[in-house]
Amino acid sequence: MACRFLSSRVVPSSQRLSRRFLFVFTLSASCTYLCYSLIFCSGAIMYGHGHEPHGCLLPHRAPGKKLLHKSSSCSPSGVRELSPARVGTGAAHDRGKKPLGGAADRGSNSSGAGGAKFGNKKLPNAIIVGVKKGGTRAVLEFIRIHPDVRAVGTEPHFFDRNYERGFDWYRSLMPRTLDSQITMEKTPSYFVTREAPRRISSMSRNTKLIVVVRNPVTRAISDYTQTLSKKPDIPTFEVLAFKNKSLGLVDTSWNAIRIGMYILHLENWLQYFPLSQIHFVSGEMLITDPAGELARVQDFLGLKRIVTDKHFYFNKTKGFPCLKKPESSSLPRCLGKSKGRTHVQIDQEVIEKLREFYRPYNIKFYEMVGHDFRWD
Ligand SMILES: *[C@@H]1O[C@H](CO)[C@@H](O)[C@H](O)[C@H]1NC(C)=O
Ligand SMILES: *[C@@H]1O[C@H](CO)[C@@H](O)[C@H](O)[C@H]1NC(C)=O
Ligand SMILES: *[C@@H]1O[C@H](CO)[C@@H](O)[C@H](O)[C@H]1NC(C)=O
Repeated sequence: MACRFLSSRVVPSSQRLSRRFLFVFTLSASCTYLCYSLIFCSGAIMYGHGHEPHGCLLPHRAPGKKLLHKSSSCSPSGVRELSPARVGTGAAHDRGKKPLGGAADRGSNSSGAGGAKFGNKKLPNAIIVGVKKGGTRAVLEFIRIHPDVRAVGTEPHFFDRNYERGFDWYRSLMPRTLDSQITMEKTPSYFVTREAPRRISSMSRNTKLIVVVRNPVTRAISDYTQTLSKKPDIPTFEVLAFKNKSLGLVDTSWNAIRIGMYILHLENWLQYFPLSQIHFVSGEMLITDPAGELARVQDFLGLKRIVTDKHFYFNKTKGFPCLKKPESSSLPRCLGKSKGRTHVQIDQEVIEKLREFYRPYNIKFYEMVGHDFRWD
């Protein structure tokens, strides 16, 4: 009986003791876990990753010591390391014009860089030098989405029409940039301006040059269409294009024809710049694969690939890629009405003759730049 009494009294009390111990232990373990969670994950929470930050995957029921080891992945520094990767996925676009990397730490005024007075006006590091009707506006609008690019919207025409105004005038047109940002402009007539390569190299021999090229026949027709829209009473395309149509004698003095003889102009540029400093964008590929062309432009400019296919959508009505979210606007935007306009109808025979005319020039051009643009 006594034994049974004792056992009935002692056993429950020892059970109660162990239960109490278990409770206290669990409580303290929970507290420890909570404290560690708060200390090591506060950084992650501040970054707005929500209730269970991805950078802080703590195993439940893990002993305290193991928590310390695991927690390194959710320390504030670990979280910060995640940020550039998020930039790479296109999130940077939503951060507005905030510069990347070290530039972001230059003081609170560097945010909202849109029209803010910060940085300095600098002569351009990169120029889209041509060609007219090639797609230069599209390239400029697409590349300036990049937070490390700042560009002049209008065409300065400095190296052809305004050279006498001097470099100070030219610089005054430029947007303010941080040291980490590239200044750009585009003036398509530079490519066919005899003095332009020499003048640009006298500004800086390191200037990076971008040329947007396109099938010279369609380029000529597009060029003529634009002129016709301004001057409706000019002669027909074929009258202007040929000296003698039946002989197939093309009038190379007509600008619409001359511009497309790319190799001749390029030879002039190569007297002042190595080929490695000139990047050629395919005007055709720019329409079918803008992200692919922009990836190459970004590589050429030494920029991180931030402008990607996420930034474009294709407008089937227009037959042209449009920007989902251009800078300083939350609305999608396509290029101006005149871009991608329907061309005037040209006789197939005329087109054939011009194709034959351009073929030898095209082939020499492909050989020189080491790329077949498939215009023939
Ligand atoms: C930021 O701008 C304010 C006025 O807008 C100016 O007083 C301040 O000096 C600027 N700070 C920096 C770091 O440029
Ligand atoms: C074109 O060339 C042919 C053959 O030489 C000649 O008969 C014709 O008059 C020329 N046409 C023009 C407009 O010069
Ligand atoms: C597509 O282009 C057409 C013609 O330019 C325009 O009217 C239309 O608003 C555009 N649609 C979108 C979604 O951009």
